[in-house]
Amino acid sequence: MSATASDSIMETGTFVNCFLLVISLVIIPVNGGYDKERDALLKGTFPQDFIWSSATAAYQIEGAWNVSDKGPSVWDTLAHQDNNRDTGDVACDSYHKYPADIQLMKQMGLKYYRFSISWPRIFPTGEQQDGVNQDGVRYYNALINELIANDIQPMVTLFHWDLPQVLQDRYGGFLNNHTTNTTVIHDLFGDYARFCYQNFGDRVKYWITFNEPWITSWLGYGVGNFAPQHNEPAEGQYKAAHNIILSHAKAYHIYDDEFRAAQNGQVGITLNCDWGTPKTPADADAAIRYIQFSMGWFAHPIFKNGDYPEVMKTTMTRKAQEEGRTTSRLPEFTPEQKAYISGTGDFFGLNHYTTVEVIDTCCTPIENPSYDTDKDIGTGHAPDWPRAASSWLYVVPWGIRNLLGWIKEEYGDPDIYVTENGRSDHDQDPAIMMDMERICYYMMYTNEVMKASNMDNVKVKAYTAWSLLDNFEWLSGYSERFGLHYVDFNDPTRTRYPKASSVFFKQLVRNNGYPEGSEFTKYVENMWYFCHNTTEAEVNGYTGGASQISSLFSLFLAIPMMIAYSLIA
Ligand code: BGC
Repeated sequence: MSATASDSIMETGTFVNCFLLVISLVIIPVNGGYDKERDALLKGTFPQDFIWSSATAAYQIEGAWNVSDKGPSVWDTLAHQDNNRDTGDVACDSYHKYPADIQLMKQMGLKYYRFSISWPRIFPTGEQQDGVNQDGVRYYNALINELIANDIQPMVTLFHWDLPQVLQDRYGGFLNNHTTNTTVIHDLFGDYARFCYQNFGDRVKYWITFNEPWITSWLGYGVGNFAPQHNEPAEGQYKAAHNIILSHAKAYHIYDDEFRAAQNGQVGITLNCDWGTPKTPADADAAIRYIQFSMGWFAHPIFKNGDYPEVMKTTMTRKAQEEGRTTSRLPEFTPEQKAYISGTGDFFGLNHYTTVEVIDTCCTPIENPSYDTDKDIGTGHAPDWPRAASSWLYVVPWGIRNLLGWIKEEYGDPDIYVTENGRSDHDQDPAIMMDMERICYYMMYTNEVMKASNMDNVKVKAYTAWSLLDNFEWLSGYSERFGLHYVDFNDPTRTRYPKASSVFFKQLVRNNGYPEGSEFTKYVENMWYFCHNTTEAEVNGYTGGASQISSLFSLFLAIPMMIAYSLIA
């Protein structure tokens, strides 16, 4: 789509939605919990070489689920289980429409794009020896070449949950022989990674082995509501995680041994983590336990010492005693494996969306143990935290700054790439094109990331918006929209339309933050007290002049400013 075309869509969408938006804003409070000092706008810019990006994942956008020789993935299987489910069969049809996606990125001034490769689109059964789907190789080559032709660097995830179904059927997927040294799944993931390095590594310099292994392990193999729907909440997640960590290490070492010298890229992993804040001072240890049992489960072995966090090991040993077991449900790494795993991350990929309040519930013995109860904690949310469309997503911008600081301290000050951050809207009619709440979210969260970078000296090198496009939101199908661009899923051509947030993001990238004195920063200042609920500001003693009324007034100013931005952008 040309710049002029998208701007005029923006302009039309803006006027159509403007009236409704203003009405709705009078009614709905947004982004509350304001604290004058903590939440003040920081002016300044990110380091010169800061990476601004947006992200997608293969199953969520590609469609073309069975073209040429592509094999089915565990998500194809789940989505086809009954006729009432949304599927990724067509999704955003990015398999055909990737040049249009790239023009959207270009329009926003993005120089990086994070996407994932579908393992069964490359190896239909997951195993190279069974044959390679040449059309899959052609597709990813074409996508990468088109990105580079448009001056956009690819950042590639090897595994974003779409395991080849055949590997699940043949070997139990990531449950495969998790305590022996002959585990097939490590080698198969290694072969797949090697093939990708060989075929795309001349142009791809950033590799992410796994996206959010916590989700695959717990939701895929513990709870079993996500694919491949294995329900074994006492042990499934621990076995799967064990295999994923070793598979990650294998892919890292293959790069190190066979490709790094020639290709000179980086290999990391992306972990998800909510910030856990203690509900009372007495819950402080529980909040640490929350983080160690989620992010630390993977980060501690990879970024610290090759082994699980101490608190996980001691907790699980105590549980084994209580349950009358001779061994812990948490598997052990051998000394060789620890050495193999430790230090296998050139960067720390972080997906962060929200914060939870943590309550200590230690230590009630439980009849049916599960990962959920193993942690001995309860979680909740403060009443003044605003919510997005996804039931789990509360808007708590300061959480990301705390989490970034925690990672710096805990893991020896690694380079951190924020590989996902964003918020959802409901799918509704009329469509939300003036997505002010998303603009507020990006404004507040990126400002907190800048505080981590510039005030706390966290080596945060990248910020990635989730997502470039509205897409298939897993079990929620198309009912939740995270995109900077609206996709009409009823339109066979899947036309994309820029939302207001894409214009905001473009200005953010262009300004590289919030420089003192810029027109953009003035706009942000006008919006700041609207984005943080000013009623809460008054509760917390804010007396700086921004009232509910002046906030709404600044909103009236802000909308024409946004239109102006879209026209001159
Ligand atoms: C995942 C994405 C997902 C997003 C919003 C992340 O956990 O990596 O695939 O769409 O969160 O739920």
